[in-house]
Amino acid sequence: MADLEIRDLHVEADDTPILRGVDLDLDKGKTIALMGPNGSGKSTLAYAIAGHPAYDITGGTITWKGTELTELTPDERARLGVFLAMQYPVEVPGVSLTNFLRTAVNAVNEEDVPVREFMQRLRSEMAELGVDDSFLQRSVNEGFSGGEKKRFEILQAALLKPELAVLDETDSGLDVDALRIVAEGVNRLSGPDLGVLIITHYTRILRYITADEVHVMFEGRIVASGGAELADELEQGGYDKIRAEHGVSV
Ligand SMILES: Nc1ncnc2c1ncn2[C@@H]1O[C@H](COP(=O)(O)OP(=O)(O)O)[C@@H](O)[C@H]1O
Ligand SMILES: [Mg+2]
Repeated sequence: MADLEIRDLHVEADDTPILRGVDLDLDKGKTIALMGPNGSGKSTLAYAIAGHPAYDITGGTITWKGTELTELTPDERARLGVFLAMQYPVEVPGVSLTNFLRTAVNAVNEEDVPVREFMQRLRSEMAELGVDDSFLQRSVNEGFSGGEKKRFEILQAALLKPELAVLDETDSGLDVDALRIVAEGVNRLSGPDLGVLIITHYTRILRYITADEVHVMFEGRIVASGGAELADELEQGGYDKIRAEHGVSV
């Protein structure tokens, strides 16, 4: 049994079916990429894994290390090591990045990390990700550029040390330098204890992060699966070629 097993998952939002039977496996120590055109349901899958209340699971299962996630709250999932870096991170005015991160780390680990120790870790992770110290006092995501928001998502992951990281379009809105820094951040997190699901519309982040498998989603279903060569195919032929080759009538 894979660490993460998604079986015949059906998800609706606003009474509209979005996912129509998704199957996906991911083991810790592996990185898989989920690709697909806009509107195919990639973010919906990410939200369903994390437990966003707007997305109703109408069928199927999401099993993480033998536990059925769909019955758990988002906090309970986080304590089981599940982390979602959102495509559109939310701004939280009035809450400093430092307080936000410390509260999150303490809540997820169910412990109280001494402030001094936490600040040391935070500063060292920030330095690695090229985030300026001045951000410590800033409100979460407020006025952050697209690239800064994405770096902050990776910073959260670095501090929370998840076992399953779902990175939804972590590459979007990044220039090449920021993309490289974020990808290096993801690579630093990677290891035998972490499974990574990279969701992306573009292939360029896969030049920096090696995916063990690539899956392509159309209209709420995974229609093609393969190795890194599938991403190369997409790079060359775009989604139209995959559509034609895999006989998808969308
Ligand atoms: N909260 C929601 N309410 C209604 N429709 C939604 C909601 N979220 C997503 N959808 C719809 O579901 C489809 C898939 O969206 P999404 O999962 O964001 O796709 P992707 O991330 O692949 O671009 C789109 O047609 C989108 O409009
Ligand atoms: Mg999306």
